[in-house]
Amino acid sequence: MSLVLGIETSCDETGIAIVRDGREVLANEVASQIDIHKEFGGVVPEIASRQHTKIISQLVDKVLRDANTSPEALDAVAVTVAPGLLGSLMVGTCFGKALAYVWKKPFVPVHHIEGHIYSAFLAAEAPEFPFLALIVSGGHTQLIRCDAPHQYEILGTTRDDAIGESFDKVARLLGLPYPGGPSIQKAAEGGNARAYAFPRAMAMKDTLDFSYSGLKTAVLYALRENPQANVADIAASFQAAAVDILIKKTIQALESTGLPRLVVAGGVAANRLLRDRLQSDIAVPVFVPPFKYCIDNGAMIAAAGAARLANGFAADLDAAPSASMAL
Ligand code: KG4
Ligand code: ZN
Repeated sequence: MSLVLGIETSCDETGIAIVRDGREVLANEVASQIDIHKEFGGVVPEIASRQHTKIISQLVDKVLRDANTSPEALDAVAVTVAPGLLGSLMVGTCFGKALAYVWKKPFVPVHHIEGHIYSAFLAAEAPEFPFLALIVSGGHTQLIRCDAPHQYEILGTTRDDAIGESFDKVARLLGLPYPGGPSIQKAAEGGNARAYAFPRAMAMKDTLDFSYSGLKTAVLYALRENPQANVADIAASFQAAAVDILIKKTIQALESTGLPRLVVAGGVAANRLLRDRLQSDIAVPVFVPPFKYCIDNGAMIAAAGAARLANGFAADLDAAPSASMAL
């Protein structure tokens, strides 16, 4: 049995959780800074770090109480060390190291993307290896071959904007609030997804890479051409194109690798249309975490940390935070 405290501060969510055996969430707290960054239309790094600093120790206290446990009972402290906003990563990393040192527990550094992959293990039914992972977040659009725990190969990645980033940027163009994903999904509900034939970049190309900046530019041109354009129609047409590319590339990756199952995780995995298309278009079993574990959280970091611990990866109190680090 393992009991792991997970700490996630790579962007604008302070996520702290306690997870048993990498699967069972005993306590999970996510303090979102959305309302603070909203007025700037995106995350302000310096403000993000300060907010993490303000709230992190209270949240650790709270999860210990909620899980009805104590530091002595923990087996490890797992923390996101990369990638993300450096200042924000520093807060979680330094705080986590201090806890691990004082509590005399192993400090397990976790890569944020590995955390997203392990969020799939927090669902009622966990995937078995091997699988294909589609990671769709504010900073990443990646297709990853996952052969065994901690054995990953990136098959495709974004060449420019990440998918979540494109939702955020297009929302801004449309005058919709940050974060763009949920607001575009909401705006699209009343719109006609066939109103605009936005491009499906690189859909036909012999690569598993993605490109989303052309789609964003197409929306910009449509708005320039007709500033009175119907926002719901544009949102629906944009969302359809963005999701369509994900589905096409995922099918292409499943066919070329022959992998028998699919994990989809990251903030954009909360998208309704994407979930529907996964159900209707993907032939292999699909594993998507519950909504609350799609966006950044500490439970997925604890789950990944528990797996690293179980698979014999050394704890490393010297692990340094890094804004960009390969998986
Ligand atoms: O994984 P996440 O919380 O943070 C990163 O690691 O980046 O993902 C945040 C991203 C944002 O870009 C947000 O707009 C997007 O996930 N997002 C969505 C939805 N909910 C969040 N995108 C599309 N549809 C949604 N329902
Ligand atoms: Zn994330």
